[in-house]
Order: sequence, then structure tokens, then C-alpha cells
Amino acid sequence: MTEPEVQKRLIDVLTPEQVNDIERIAAICNTDYDATDHVSPTGGDTIFTWDYDQKRAPLVKLYEKAKTSQWNSTTDLDWSVEVDQEKVAAENAAANIQAQMMREGARNDASSPLHGWSEQQFIDLGVQMQNWTLSQFMHGEQGALVCTAKIVEQVPWIDAKYYASTQVMDEARHVEVFARYLDTKLSGHYPINAHLQMLLDDIIADTRWDMTYLGMQIMVEGLALAAFGFLHMMTTEPLLKKLLRYVMSDEARHVAFGVLSLKEVYDEMTAAEIRERQEFAFEAAVRMRDRFMQQEVWEHFGIDQKELVRWFLKRPPAQDQFTPMLFSKIVPNCKKLGLLDAADGWLRDRFTEIGAIQFEDWTDTGEEYEMLDEVSKDRAAV
Ligand SMILES: [Fe+2]
Ligand SMILES: [Fe+2]
Repeated sequence: MTEPEVQKRLIDVLTPEQVNDIERIAAICNTDYDATDHVSPTGGDTIFTWDYDQKRAPLVKLYEKAKTSQWNSTTDLDWSVEVDQEKVAAENAAANIQAQMMREGARNDASSPLHGWSEQQFIDLGVQMQNWTLSQFMHGEQGALVCTAKIVEQVPWIDAKYYASTQVMDEARHVEVFARYLDTKLSGHYPINAHLQMLLDDIIADTRWDMTYLGMQIMVEGLALAAFGFLHMMTTEPLLKKLLRYVMSDEARHVAFGVLSLKEVYDEMTAAEIRERQEFAFEAAVRMRDRFMQQEVWEHFGIDQKELVRWFLKRPPAQDQFTPMLFSKIVPNCKKLGLLDAADGWLRDRFTEIGAIQFEDWTDTGEEYEMLDEVSKDRAAV
């Protein structure tokens, strides 16, 4: 795909007015369980550099940290744990005020697609949501694997190529652990969510190497870090809890890699170039919000997609603090990069419209990776 086509898709296809367009969202649902692969055209050139000096101290420090924080999914996790998925789903629901409010909302609202559901149906829903969530984590991790390999090829700085190569290994490990968990502990796979696939395709197709960082390290991984943290807090299952602790240790480094690298790039950009990055960030944010409508799960239960999306979008904010919380890493990182307030606060206005601006002063991830290094803490405790 050529650059002008990519830019047209990013800027024109998803205008702010289309953000809550039910037809747009409901029309995209992946039910292709038989697909074995997906072809995604890659944009951009591979860059060699002959400047081998490591000039960027924060990236050198991050690279050193990555080299000593590798872990082995085969030996560092106890895969002998038996998982009773219905029990886990019931415990998660009991501990999750949001889930309880969703049930209450469904019971009291005759227009809800879940109105009249039995307790067992809600447990089945919890099981399917877990299958779906872990499947999307696995697919998203493969997206990170591919995008980070793209960064190794396309970033012109040697210290960034070094660091990105460690992330490729991290992401392979993440795909592996989620795939193994799904295969051996859960009860089914879901295909990649269509909104997530579109976002990954956009990131891979873009010819500008910094867009890979913005799309993957800041947006997708920032959301993943928040989502993993939420699930880590909720789950009572010890294998998943430790797996998520370790994956989050790596992810915090990955987001830091994006923040540290892009700061330097954005400081040199024109206002017009920054505005394109704001639009890219906003489109990514909407696609990720759309992804969490979990349409494939509702399809599984035979629920009409439009009815579901309509209900999802009109839920009172009190019933859905989870969706905005997914932006708790993205918004402060965008602020640190100067993306929130450039171009007369264009991105600030958009994040306000989707209810995510309240996180702007939360901790950014530029330094947070040292606090989240659970692998080192476990090693020091032995
Ligand atoms: Fe990852
Ligand atoms: Fe990552």
C-alpha cells in the first residue's frame, strides 16, 4: 500500500462524527474460525546504519535492563496448576463490581440483550469472555512481535535496533504463554477481533517508522498494560496471575521504549506532522474501544450486533468504568509526548469526548518500568 492511501484511510475514514456510528461498529465482526493466516502489506524501507555509537543513554539503560530481565515461560511458570474455568469466572464476577452492575442493569432493563438471562447463562458468558480476552491478548501479542521486528528493520538508530531486538524475543514469549494457557487451561479460541486486525494492518502498512512506535508501543501496548493490570488484580487463578505479572514487567519496558524514542522524534516535527500523529492516535483509541465491545462473544450467543452495540454505547458511565480505565496509560503518555495539547488541544478534545481525559496526570510510563520489574524482585527474593 502506498503512503497517500494509508494517510487517506487514517484521516478520512474515521471522522469524529463516526466514532459512535452503530452501523460502522456492528458491521465489523470476525467469525472466520477456519482462517489459518492473514496477509498484511508492509509499508516503509529497511534502514541500515553505519553509525554504531550508542548515543541515547535512556535506551542503552533500557537495553541493559532487558538483557537481564529475560524469563523462561517453560521453567519460570508452574503449568501443572489445574484451572476450573467456571469457578474462576464465578469468582471474577463476584469480585467485579462492574460485572455485577452489568447484570443488574440487564435484569432491570427490558431493552438489554441480556434481559432475562439465568445465573448459568451469566457464568457461561464469563467463560466465553475469558476465552475471548485471552485469545485477543494472544493475537495482539503476535501483532507486537511483528511490529517490533518492523522497528528493528526501519528505525535508523543503532541503540533502538538493539533494544527492539530484545522486545522481539519478549513478544515471542508472550505469544507462547497466552497460546499455551488457552490450549491447556481454557475451553476455546476466538479469531482476532476485526477492529484489532484493522488497527494492526494500519500500523504495519504505514511507511513512517515512528508510526509503528505510536501505534504499537504507545497505543496497543499502553492499553495492554492497563488491561493486564486489571485482569491481574481481578483473577484468583495463580498461574494466570504470575503469568500476567511477568508479562507486565516486559510490557512496561516496551511502553517506555516508545515514550523515550518518540520524545526525540516529536521535538523535531512540524505542527502539521504532529497533527497527523494526533489523528493516528485517536483512530487507534477508537478502534481499541470498539474492540472491547467483544462482538465475537455476542455472536457466539446469537445476539444481534447492532442491538448489542446500541446497548453498549448507551450504558450509564457508572456501569462501565472499565473501558475508560483502558486509557489510563495511553493518555498520560500522549501528554508526556506533547500530543494532547498540540494543534490547539485537538487530541485533548477527542479524549474528552470518549471519556478518557481524566487520566492525563497519572504516572507516565517513561520510568515506570523499574517499579514494575517483578522478574527481578522474584529473583532477589530467592
Ligand atoms: Fe507483549
Ligand atoms: Fe510488548
